[in-house]
Amino acid sequence: MKVLGINAIFHDPAAALVIDGEIVAAAEEERFSRRKHGKRPVPFSAWELPEQSARWCLEHAGLEPADLDAVGYSFDPALARPAAEQGLHDPWDHLRLTYAEAAPRFIATALPGLHRDRVDYVAHHVAHGASAGLAAPFAGCDVLVLDGRGESASHLAGRYDESGVLKTLVTQELPHSIGLLYEDVTEYLGFLRSSDEYKVMALAAYGRPRYLDAVREAVYAVPDGGFRTEPVDWAVYAPARRAGQDWTEEHADLAASVQRRLEEVLVELASWLRAQTGGTRLAMAGGVALNCVANTVVAREAGYDELWVQPAAGDAGTALGAALHLARALGDSVRPMPGADLGRAWSDDELEAVLRSARLPYERPADVAETVAEALAADGIVAWFQGRSEYGPRALGHRSLLAHPGRAANLDRLNAVKGRERFRPVAPMVLAERAAEVFSRGPVPSPYMLFTHDVAPAWRDRVPAAVHVDGTARIQTVERATEPLVARLLDAFERRTGLPVVINTSLNTAGRPMVDSPRDALECFGSAPVDLLALGPFVVRRPEVR
Ligand SMILES: [Fe+2]
Repeated sequence: MKVLGINAIFHDPAAALVIDGEIVAAAEEERFSRRKHGKRPVPFSAWELPEQSARWCLEHAGLEPADLDAVGYSFDPALARPAAEQGLHDPWDHLRLTYAEAAPRFIATALPGLHRDRVDYVAHHVAHGASAGLAAPFAGCDVLVLDGRGESASHLAGRYDESGVLKTLVTQELPHSIGLLYEDVTEYLGFLRSSDEYKVMALAAYGRPRYLDAVREAVYAVPDGGFRTEPVDWAVYAPARRAGQDWTEEHADLAASVQRRLEEVLVELASWLRAQTGGTRLAMAGGVALNCVANTVVAREAGYDELWVQPAAGDAGTALGAALHLARALGDSVRPMPGADLGRAWSDDELEAVLRSARLPYERPADVAETVAEALAADGIVAWFQGRSEYGPRALGHRSLLAHPGRAANLDRLNAVKGRERFRPVAPMVLAERAAEVFSRGPVPSPYMLFTHDVAPAWRDRVPAAVHVDGTARIQTVERATEPLVARLLDAFERRTGLPVVINTSLNTAGRPMVDSPRDALECFGSAPVDLLALGPFVVRRPEVR
C-alpha cells in the first residue's frame, strides 16, 4: 500500500510517505517554505496544507497522486467539541473544524489526480501514538502521548500489541492539558508559545523549584490514569517577562518548579500505564516528549526497561503516524523507523553545480571527515551538510553546525553565530561505544538527542562547551554502521585532540528553519561567521581577513 500522511491542523505542517509498511520519506513544510514551524498555530491558518513537502514525498518515490491508496490527515473533526465546552477561550476555534471537514477536498485540489475519497481522518493522538508505537525499534509496547491538545483531549495512554494494533486505555479530556500549561508558562516567561518551550526547559537548569508545592496543588495525576491542570496565577511567583528582557532568579525558579512538576506527573502517568499492562517497553510522542530532561526522568524512574521517543515528537510527527496507522489498518506490516534522515538529499554532481553557479572557490579533499576534523581542531566553526535532512527539530549530523568542545568560549560563540540566548546549551555528539566513558549517567543509545546525560567528572573540564550549567549534556550517540561519515569525523577529531566528542547544533540562524537545501546552506554560510562549509564531499573556506 502507498500511504501519504499529512499534518496541517495546528502547526509544524509536514508530510510522510509509507510504502508497503516502510517509511520512505518524511519532511516538514518549514524546510521548503523557509517559515519556522510552517505557520502560526491559529485557527485561520488551519486550511494551509504542507503542499511542497507532500509533492516532494511523491516525487522522491516516483509516484503520482493517483497512485496513492490512502492519505491520512492527523485530525478527526468528528471527535472535536465546541471550544467553550473544552474550556478554550478562542472564538475562532470553529474555523479549525470547518477547514478540517473540508480537508479532503483541499488535499485533492493540492494533489491533482487524487480522489478525495482516498483521504481518511486519523485521530490526532492515535497519529502521535502510531509515530511512537509503530515506528519504535521493537514490536509490542506501551505508548504514552502528551501534547497541548488534539480534537478534545491532550493525552492518550495505551498499548500496541505485537501485530501493531492499539488498545487505548485512557485519554485525558481538555481543558486539562500539561502541554497547554507548559505553553502558558512559556508565554509568561517571555518566549514564543507553541515554539520556545525548550527555552523554559533550559532556563529551569538555572533555578531552584521553590514554587513546587504550589504547582503540585494545581497539577496532579488522578487514579484513572489521567490528570488535572488547574489554572495557575503565575504573577504570584514571578513578574511577567517581556520578550528580550533579562531574566531573573524568580523566572528561573518558576521555570524550575513547572519543569520539576512535569517530570513528577509524567513518571506517575507512565507508572500507572506500566501497572495496567505489565509492559517493559514504552514509546512516547506528542510535543511534551521533546522535553529531554523529563524523558530522562521517565526513563530512570517509571520502571520500564526501555524507552523510545519519536524524534519528530511534535505535531510534524503526526504526518508519519497517520501514514503508519493507515498502512497497518490496510493490512501492511509496518517496519520501524530506519533513522531520522528521511528528507531531501542531493547528489555530488548536483552539489558541485550549486557551488559552480555561486562562483565560490571550493576543494574536494580526499576525505572530507579529515579536512573538517582539522578545521575543528584549529577551533574553526564548521557548517556540515551531508546526506538526507532530518525529520524533527534536532540536527543529527546531516544539517549541523560543529565546533570544538574543549573551548568553553565556543558556547557563546555558537550562540552568537545562531543569534540565540546565552543561557541555551549546545549538545555533543559521541560514538555510541564511547558514550558511557564520557557521560556517566543517562539512557544510551541516544541517537536522537531526546535525553540528558551527566558528564563524568573527569571530563567536565575537558569538554566545557558541551556541559550545561547543571553538569548535564543532551548527547547524540553515533553508530558506525548507520552514520559511517560522522563516525569517521569523530575518530579524526579525537586523533588530533584526544577528545571523542564534537559539539553539534542545528544548522540555522535565529528564527529560521534548519538548512535543508544546498542553497540554504550557502545563504547561512554567507551570512554567519562560520569558518568552513562542508557540502557533501566539497569544502568552502572563509577567506582570511587581512
Ligand atoms: Fe499534537
